[in-house]
Amino acid sequence: MGETIKLTLQNGQPVSPFGLGLMGMSDFYGSKATRDDRESIATIEMAMERGITFFNAGDFYGMGHNESLLAQAVKNKRDRAFISVKFGVLRGPNGEFLGLDTRPAAIKNFISYSLQRLGTDYIDLYQPGRIDPSLPIEETIGAMADLVKQGVIRHIGLSEASAEQIRQAHAVHPIGAVEVEYSLATRIAEEKILPVTRELGMSLVAYGALSRGLLSGGLTGKFDPTDFRAYLPRFSGKEFESNQATVKQLNEFAQKRGYTPSQVAIAWVAHQGKDIVTLIGTSKRNRLEENLKASAIQFSSDELRQLDAMFKPGAIAGERYPVQQMGIVVH
Ligand SMILES: NC(=O)c1ccc[n+]([C@@H]2O[C@H](COP(=O)([O-])OP(=O)(O)OC[C@H]3O[C@@H](n4cnc5c(N)ncnc54)[C@H](OP(=O)(O)O)[C@@H]3O)[C@@H](O)[C@H]2O)c1
Repeated sequence: MGETIKLTLQNGQPVSPFGLGLMGMSDFYGSKATRDDRESIATIEMAMERGITFFNAGDFYGMGHNESLLAQAVKNKRDRAFISVKFGVLRGPNGEFLGLDTRPAAIKNFISYSLQRLGTDYIDLYQPGRIDPSLPIEETIGAMADLVKQGVIRHIGLSEASAEQIRQAHAVHPIGAVEVEYSLATRIAEEKILPVTRELGMSLVAYGALSRGLLSGGLTGKFDPTDFRAYLPRFSGKEFESNQATVKQLNEFAQKRGYTPSQVAIAWVAHQGKDIVTLIGTSKRNRLEENLKASAIQFSSDELRQLDAMFKPGAIAGERYPVQQMGIVVH
């Protein structure tokens, strides 16, 4: 699957340029009825066979379910997996969002459960799912630095942190990678995050290459009430309709070249730099198969210009998160 990327850390470890995003295997997309654990585990196993080493999970994705799936798939192959886990997002029994907790004692508690569920004694990349604005980031990173010393975390990461927060965190302990949404449809990272990660020598973990499935062209705009996309401005009403028109253009562009829109969208993210790990978010082997073909796509400068024109600022209507969550993501 091409060369490996080196996460830029002291004791840095090479990882594959594509990572597998596990979130939809446990939560946020579809419903309990549409999820299939056996297929999810088989997808992780297939990813490993195809050379993917980077696995992106969250302790709050299905409240431990996501880590349990990963544990089953990497059993006896732990040394071939680079495990990334997010923590600190609090949720209730019905999946409701209850706030953030990244206090030192909470972190040490969260990781103890995660290690148990994952069946491992270390996590390669550990990161708060969001930065808690009510707590000095130095406290959170200080506690994580203790965990690095203890050997239970290999690298500290951040998710949806601002440039200022990245600098503050990095001053306490070197930050290995910053995870942020980045796709043809969501390009805020280019202005706000990539300049700082590149200056400080960190990797960027790009999530949502398909804008949560939107760029695949396969969404109908109808979602189960437990599907997070039912509450995202981009996926409903006139915004969704207008976005479908842009996706249609992407589809035409892809088809002319013998690709699917998903392959083009994933390849575009991967094309943005060797410091980027591009997450492929799928719970199904046939989609992984399709999406991995993105690794063979090369764009000419004319094609890149066409994609830029298609996805010029404003081409995708609607924010990427509900308004009440925009304050805790890059904006
Ligand atoms: N840090 C953060 O705040 C944050 C937020 C969101 C996600 N993430 C991480 O990033 C990972 C990737 O994000 P994402 O899952 O939103 O990725 P994505 O690639 O933008 O979207 C994934 C969605 O697209 C569907 N899909 C994938 N390939 C497809 C194809 N070829 N044709 C049609 N539909 C396709 C998937 O469904 P199927 O499963 O049915 O294929 C899933 O519903 C997540 O798994 C999670 O680990 C991080």
